[in-house]
Amino acid sequence: MEAIDDGRLARGTRLPSTRAAQRVFGVSRNTLADVYDRLLNEGYVVMRRRSGTFVADKIPESPATHEPGDAPPYRLNPYWLRTDVQDAIHFWREPGADQPRAGQSPGIDLRAGQIDPRLFPIAVFRRAVSRQLRRLERMPPRNPSSQGNQGNYRLREAISRHIRITRAVVCRPDEVLVTSGAQQAFDLLARTLVTPGETTVALEDPGYPPLRAAFAAAAAKLVPVPVDQEGIRVDHLPRDVGVICVCPSHQFPLGVLMSEQRREQLVRFARAHKAVIVEDDYDGEFRHEGNPLQALRMRDCADVVFYVGTFSKCMLPSLRLGFIIAPRWALPALVTVKNYLDWHSPTPMQLGVAEFIAEGHLAQHVRKMRNIYAHRRERLHQILREDFSDCLEPVPSSYGLHICAFATGNMDANLVAASAVRQGVQLHSLERYYMAPGGRPGLIFGYGALDVSQIERGMKVLRDIIRR
Ligand SMILES: Cc1ncc(COP(=O)(O)O)c(C=O)c1O
Repeated sequence: MEAIDDGRLARGTRLPSTRAAQRVFGVSRNTLADVYDRLLNEGYVVMRRRSGTFVADKIPESPATHEPGDAPPYRLNPYWLRTDVQDAIHFWREPGADQPRAGQSPGIDLRAGQIDPRLFPIAVFRRAVSRQLRRLERMPPRNPSSQGNQGNYRLREAISRHIRITRAVVCRPDEVLVTSGAQQAFDLLARTLVTPGETTVALEDPGYPPLRAAFAAAAAKLVPVPVDQEGIRVDHLPRDVGVICVCPSHQFPLGVLMSEQRREQLVRFARAHKAVIVEDDYDGEFRHEGNPLQALRMRDCADVVFYVGTFSKCMLPSLRLGFIIAPRWALPALVTVKNYLDWHSPTPMQLGVAEFIAEGHLAQHVRKMRNIYAHRRERLHQILREDFSDCLEPVPSSYGLHICAFATGNMDANLVAASAVRQGVQLHSLERYYMAPGGRPGLIFGYGALDVSQIERGMKVLRDIIRR
C-alpha cells in the first residue's frame, strides 16, 4: 500500500502473479493471496480478466493523511503493529471473507475453533439471566465486592462442580478465578508469571497464535517446542524454562492426546526446573472416544499446574467467560492483576451462567452437542478416508471440534487453502499455526459450525480443487 501511496508503483502497473511474487519476496502464496485480496478490497488494485492484477487508476485516500486529530502512528507501541502480532490476534479474520461478495451465498466455515451457536438453548439462558437481573434489582451488589473480586462465588461453585463431573478435576471454589474467556486467562498468567525480558516460556509448535501473542506482549522469551504423536517433546524443553504451555487433552491444532508417559515426564521436568505448566483445556467437554485421560491438573500437581477453562466452546464464545484454577500460592497475585485489568467480569452474566450450570442445562447441552459433534466428526472422517486418502493423513485424536490432517504426496496445503477461501470455503492450512519454519504441512478441518450437508459441500469444493 505504501508503495502505491507514494507512487513507487505507478497507476496501471501490472503486479506480478502470486507465483512470481513468491519467488521475489520469499513468502508463501497463501500470504500473498491474502495481501492481494486486501489490496483489492481496499480499492488499491483492480483485477482484469485474463490479464492479471493492476494498480488502480484512482486509489483511495489514505485515512491517516486526512483525519485531523489522529494520533501520529509513531506514538503507537510498535509491538501492536507487528504483522505476526496482528496475524495472531486477527486469527479468524480472513481478508475479504467476512462479507460474501455480491451474488455469492454465505461461505462454509471449515476453520477450527468454531461452534454451532444455532443449537444453543438461548431461550433457557435468557430466562436464567433475566431471573438473575431481577434478583440484582432487588439486591444490588455491594461495591467493592465482598468476594475479593475473584469472581462471583456461585459461579465459582458451579465451575468446580462442572469440571469435577466433565473433567474429573477436583478443586474448591476458592481456587477458581473467573476471567473474560481463556484469552484473558492467558494474559493474566503472562502478566503474573513472566518477568519481562527474563522468563522463558515454552510453547507447543504448532500452537494457538493468540496464546503466543499474550506471552510475547508480556516480553517473555518464547521458545517453540515440537509436538509428536504423544504430545509436547519434553526432551526439547529449554533448561531455563519458567512456563510451559500445553493442551494435553487435545493439542491445538494437531489434536494429539498427550500420553500418560509424556504427562509424567512433563510434570517431573517442570518440578525439577522450578517451572509451572499452563494447561489449556479449551474443548475438554467434547471427548468422543477412547480412554478418558484426566486433565493434568488432576495428577497430584495442583501446585505447578494452572488449569485454564472456557465457556466459549461448551456455551458461547460471545459470553467472554472462562476461568483459571490456580495453585494457591499464585492466586492472590492473579486476583490482583485481574482486578487491575477490569475489577471483575460482568456480574449479571456470571450469575446467569451460574444458574444455567446449577440447573443442569449446561450438562444437558454438552450431552446433546457431544452426540451432534460426534456425528459430524464421523462423517468428516469418512469423507477423508474415502476421498482424500491419497493426499491427507488425519492425525488421530479423540476430543474436540476439529480434525487435523497432514499433507502427503505433492499436495500444496497453502495453495489449496487459499483457493478454498476464494471459493467461499474458509479453511486454514497448518502453516499459520507454526512458529518455527519447516513445520509439516497440512490442513485443519473444523466441524463445529457446520451441519453434515455443509461439511459435505465444503469437502466437495476441496476435492475439486485438489483434483484440478
Ligand atoms: C487452543 C484454544 N484455546 C482457547 C480458546 C478459547 O478462547 P476464548 O475462551 O478466549 O474464547 C480457543 C478458541 O478457539 C482455542 O482454540
